[in-house]
Amino acid sequence: MSHHIRFVVSSASNNFLKNNYNAITTRSVSSWWSKVEMGPPDAILGITEAFKKDQHPKKVNLGAGAYRDDNGKPYVLPCVKKAEERLAAKNLDKEYSPISGNGDFCTYSINLALGEGHDVVKNGLNATVQGISGTGSLFVGANFLSHFFPGNKDIYLPTPSWGNHKPLFTLAGLSIKSYRYYDPHTCGLNFQGLLEDISKVPKRSIILLHACAHNPTGVDPSPEQWAELSALIKQQELFPYFDMAYQGFASGDIMKDNFAVRLFLQEGHQIALAQSFAKNFGLYGERVGAFSLITGSKEEAQRALSQIKILIRPMYSNPPIHGARIVSEILGDNELKAQWLKDVKGMADRMITARTKLKENLVKNGSTRNWSHITDQIGMFCYTGLTEPEVTKLTKDFSIYLTKDGRISIAGVCSNNVEYIAHAIHQVTK
Ligand code: LMR
Repeated sequence: MSHHIRFVVSSASNNFLKNNYNAITTRSVSSWWSKVEMGPPDAILGITEAFKKDQHPKKVNLGAGAYRDDNGKPYVLPCVKKAEERLAAKNLDKEYSPISGNGDFCTYSINLALGEGHDVVKNGLNATVQGISGTGSLFVGANFLSHFFPGNKDIYLPTPSWGNHKPLFTLAGLSIKSYRYYDPHTCGLNFQGLLEDISKVPKRSIILLHACAHNPTGVDPSPEQWAELSALIKQQELFPYFDMAYQGFASGDIMKDNFAVRLFLQEGHQIALAQSFAKNFGLYGERVGAFSLITGSKEEAQRALSQIKILIRPMYSNPPIHGARIVSEILGDNELKAQWLKDVKGMADRMITARTKLKENLVKNGSTRNWSHITDQIGMFCYTGLTEPEVTKLTKDFSIYLTKDGRISIAGVCSNNVEYIAHAIHQVTK
């Protein structure tokens, strides 16, 4: 009986295939997705994909901002290794995080950003949630602003800004506007242009500021310029949204790198703040960050937090647990925190040295261009001033990979490749 049934079924399905062969093949031609066009590779992360495919023995990746040690290898911070050992010994469970993430982590994050014992935290004025690294934290904030910002939904970005700002703010429903920031003639700040543009921004708009180590230019305002900027932003009634992805990376000193954020709070601004722990803790793939909104009262913070949680829930429900545990373990322990401060300073110092070495080697190669911006700029990136054709040549002839705007990740410059990089840059710029 069972044989018979099997025969019937298989014969029926054969007939079905015969009768519908044309229909099936036709359908596969007119697929639901036949109109989907090939998109371009990501302007930053696409560089890593191209680099991996290259077989050149001396190839160098100066694209994405990911720290490398002086041997060009990815670096797991010693404090992170210790924290992970301690976590392993605790044998923790793998339960869901709350929607707003690890509570201890949120407290450590805001204290790190503002400095221990800040009045904002003491008075409960911050609504802080754990986010999916810098991008995810920015996106949570962008969505909150898109839904609840009482002014207009335009966000002003510096020109240039990090390549992912525009797509993520657009996706969240904000309109992108810009203000002048970088001066290609000086490879420095166009402060006059910046002041002029900001003084024309319509009141009650949102302005994005890079808290330190501006990406991609490595050009930051001086403390005096920040003070002027703060006064102007207040006068224009703009809402500042700080992107802080490099605290500790710019100068090696976490309290120096949060200067602008502290100044704005001291000057009475309410701010939004996205933090990334990818760079300063070397936790790139762990995707750990935080978003904070500074409010007018404790009760207002609680209301804002409730709405942020409502936005997060359908996005990703709740954040991953491991990275936040690592950061909490480190920031909650004096010994590990001291080790971390040393680790961050070590990375910052190596990048500062790499800048000097790169400049020296360009001179040694006979380059007569002015390369002083290499050491004037700070943080993870140097905006070299190389043109797009020069960048293309650098990649094609020397297998040196960088974004087409001429940005290089200084972390990719090491003792054993700095001569090669300088030689190549000189060859394409002489
Ligand atoms: C970069 O700018 O290279 C980094 O922030 C990595 C990224 O996600 O773009």
